[in-house]
This record gives sequence, structure tokens and C-alpha cells, in this order.
Amino acid sequence: SHIPVLCIDGPSASGKGTLAAELAARLGYHLLDSGLLYRLVGLAAERAGLDTAAAALQQPQQAAALGRLAQQLLVRFEQGRVWLGHEDVTDEVRSEAAGMAASRVAVVPEVRAALLDLQRNFRRLPGLVADGRDMGSVIFPDAALKVYLTASAAQRAQRRLWQLQERGESATIKDLLADLEARDERDRSRSAAPLKPAEGALLLDNSALSIEQSVQQVLDWWQASP
Ligand code: C5P
Repeated sequence: SHIPVLCIDGPSASGKGTLAAELAARLGYHLLDSGLLYRLVGLAAERAGLDTAAAALQQPQQAAALGRLAQQLLVRFEQGRVWLGHEDVTDEVRSEAAGMAASRVAVVPEVRAALLDLQRNFRRLPGLVADGRDMGSVIFPDAALKVYLTASAAQRAQRRLWQLQERGESATIKDLLADLEARDERDRSRSAAPLKPAEGALLLDNSALSIEQSVQQVLDWWQASP
């Protein structure tokens, strides 16, 4: 495709969402928050009474049922709100529990396959900024620029805590660190689209960078990209 794509992949709470949204705003591009789709599948599974425990998902019938559910996902994005069927799930979808559920359903190949076209449909003129785990490696392998964003685990847990506190949720750094490590481990070790830098990805560690510095670095790379 001739439509430009800029991919931001990396582990949980590395700042992908913030960076991707800011880049999309500055470039006037569309934005794909792919993690949101996995979170919605996790929520939809819960609503449908499907067991999303790791052991249950290893059963072929359970995986197939979850794949069908992902294929039929009824989502709407409207003025900053997210709807799942008739339910406004904007707040719940950002919760720590939804993130954990997302990382469990994301292991299932049928789920990843069901979301493939949905994600690629976000590629529209004038361009797209996409963030997730496999944007550069699987969904948009021909992207003009792939960035792999990381930060220290301590820094990421701290940022997640601020994020939750802003929404009036509470948590401890210790629990958040454990959650992050569990999710990273599951994301890295799964066989379908594991989290890892895509071929040709540029590495950016933003542990000691401000948001503006990270944005500037990626914009510099973007201007220099083919
Ligand atoms: O980025 P976010 O925290 O919203 O993602 C939630 C979970 O969804 C991740 O932990 C990961 O397991 C899964 N995910 C994925 N592939 C993507 C985006 C998210 O597997 N492209």
C-alpha cells in the first residue's frame, strides 16, 4: 500500500499510547490503538460467560469459540467513547483487569486472525500511527518506520500508577510491577506474534526522556524515513 504507516511497538506501560496519540495529532494521521481491540475481546468474552483462564484457552473448542466472538465483535468508537454492543465500556476497558484479560485472549491464534482485517482497515489516507505489540512485525510489515519503545520496569510501573490514580483507582507499585512482568512474560513467550522488535525497528528507551523529547526523536526518524 502507498498509505504511510508509522508503528510503535513495545511492552506494557512503555508510553506507546501517549506517544502514538501525540504523533497522530501532529502528523494529522489516523490512530490505531490495537491493545484496545484485545481488551474489548477480553471484556466481550467475560460478558458472554466464556472462561478466559489460560488453561481453558488451551482447549481447541474454547479457542474456536473465542475466535468467533472476536470475529463478531460489535464495537463503536464515538467522540472518545468506546461502545461494546449497547454498553459504554470506555472506563472499564482501561482497567488493569481488562489489560490482564486482554493479554490472556491475545495468546489465541484464532483471536489474532479475527482482528487482522479490522486492524488493517485503519490504514487510510493521509496516514496511520499504530501502536501495539506486533504492528511492525505482523500487521504492517511494510511500514515506513517501526519504533520499538521501551523503558525500565520501575519507570513503567510508576507511570501505570499515575495513570490509575488519575482515574481514581488505587494500586501499589509492587502489585503493578508483578502485573507488568506477568503480562510482558506472556506477551514475549507466546508462539503467535510474540512481543519482540520487528525487523528493521529503531529502538527508543524513553526512561529518561520527556514525552516531547520522545515525540521529537520519532518525528526526526519519520522525516528521514523512505
Ligand atoms: O497495549 P495494551 O496494554 O492496551 O494491550 C493489552 C494487551 O493486549 C497486551 O498485554 C497484549 O497481550 C495484547 N496486545 C497484543 N497485540 C497488540 C496489542 C495488544 O497481543 N498488537
